[in-house]
Amino acid sequence: MARSEPLRIGVLASGRGSNLQAIIDAIESGKLDARLAVVVSDRADAQALERAQKHGTDAVFMDPKKYPSREAFDQAVLGVLSEHRAELACLAGYMRVLSSTFVRALPGQIMNIHPALLPSFPGLHAQRQALEHGVKVSGATVHFVNEGVDTGPIICQVAVPVREDDTEETLAARILEQEHQLYPRAIRLYAEGRLEVRGRRVYVNET
Ligand code: GAR
Repeated sequence: MARSEPLRIGVLASGRGSNLQAIIDAIESGKLDARLAVVVSDRADAQALERAQKHGTDAVFMDPKKYPSREAFDQAVLGVLSEHRAELACLAGYMRVLSSTFVRALPGQIMNIHPALLPSFPGLHAQRQALEHGVKVSGATVHFVNEGVDTGPIICQVAVPVREDDTEETLAARILEQEHQLYPRAIRLYAEGRLEVRGRRVYVNET
């Protein structure tokens, strides 16, 4: 399905923003035909905001403390995404659980990247959980977001072997390298209209 205009993406990020950077790089190098419409962060000091500005994208800090509830905050974020006409919301190291209000407002239009092979090790400190469990293989997952924590339909995954001398940091670094390939690829499939969700399964249609 050809689009008349490139897909407009809104990225939500809480920190370093290296996945955001991978998306920006893919756009700038022409590997991903999309526009970064806006970047929103719940942390004023997020490096992600600087990365967005450098790319010439609106970077918006929204302070959760200024809102009476999680829902009210999420409504405000939705407002910013809508003002920027974002069609897909990409969570990239966004450390807040989305409220149902948010998820229901954008059905099938929210993606997340997680540093483990879901459904193993959801939530925080996925790499630490993998090491503590003693798995031999971990990895990264891009999935659509539903109302659970890291439970939505899986779009793509990549495996990363765990080494005997791995620490949380070394494992996280090797997984991150793979994340940077995986996320732009998943977004490209979405932008090309090739993802079809049926129940829990995401099918990738040929072009
Ligand atoms: C990434 O490893 C991402 O998968 C993870 O946070 C890191 C953010 O790095 N996300 C989660 O753990 C979400 N549950 P980045 O800010 O450099 O992209």
